[in-house]
Amino acid sequence: MALKIHNPEFAHPSEAEFAHILDFYGVEWDYEPTSFPTQWDGDRVTEMFTPDFYLPQLDLYIELTTLKQSLVTRKNRKLRRLRELNPDINIRLLYRRDFHRLLAKYGFGPLANSETPVIDRVLIGTSQIAIRTAELGREISKDYRHKKPVLVGVLRGVFCFMADLMRQITVPMSVDFMSISHYGNEDSAVKITKDLDMELESRHVLMVEDIVDTGMTLNYLLDYLRAKNPASLEVCTLLDKRARRLTDNTLKYVGFEIADEFVVGYGLDYMEEYRNLPFIGILKPDEGDAANRAQNKSPK
Ligand code: IMP
Ligand code: MG
Repeated sequence: MALKIHNPEFAHPSEAEFAHILDFYGVEWDYEPTSFPTQWDGDRVTEMFTPDFYLPQLDLYIELTTLKQSLVTRKNRKLRRLRELNPDINIRLLYRRDFHRLLAKYGFGPLANSETPVIDRVLIGTSQIAIRTAELGREISKDYRHKKPVLVGVLRGVFCFMADLMRQITVPMSVDFMSISHYGNEDSAVKITKDLDMELESRHVLMVEDIVDTGMTLNYLLDYLRAKNPASLEVCTLLDKRARRLTDNTLKYVGFEIADEFVVGYGLDYMEEYRNLPFIGILKPDEGDAANRAQNKSPK
């Protein structure tokens, strides 16, 4: 896909970073393309709302609010008004913490600046994972009877889930893996770093994911797999951070819907660590650590 050359003057560094992430995943964007009037005095427009980004492929506006809470309240009011006046508009607000969590998975932001991130709590325990995985396995076995599905996993986060899930599937199946580059490495666009070994033409393909977050990775992979002309293509994900979804791909099988927290364990990593935890836990910056360093910072 040809990407436009973008050189807008961003109002905030977080906007430039967000634009980089979109570029990486090949999601087209426009910066502040439209101003929507939200208030009038007679014929005169007295208030406008200009969302930061428009993503034409997703028909989605994004507003990044890295501001203080007091200003966010005002923005929320404007947003409500915008939605009342344009009921068909598809707009998402990304708050400062949403954005920090988006960065966390690429190793940037507060989590990266904390010397000792800590497991705050267990979100999904080992037996809960096992029970749900067995249920998914039963469902998949029923739906794919006589279909000999190929389960396609994306390395590396999915390997624990894939291993457990496939042992709960009671119909003949095969498995293949691929892997892709991640944002923040030297590549400027997402690419396949390990391709599939199997032919998918006319096969029933079930893509297995550890977690779907914004959906940008999945979107890219589904396009790639669709081009191989499978007989069918569905998605099974252990975790679904639906609150953060930007794309609208259908997830046929979902283990758990989770809130917008950064999670690790059971194959999921932060900077390649924590994959070996037998449960899924929430990773937080060590507050004490962050506070200590802030205090110790000597003025220049
Ligand atoms: P998406 O493209 O935003 O949907 O992100 C999907 C990928 O980001 C997953 O395959 C994971 O590798 C990674 N990811 C997203 N959220 C988390 C998380 O909470 N913990 C660990 N990895 C995550
Ligand atoms: Mg992954």
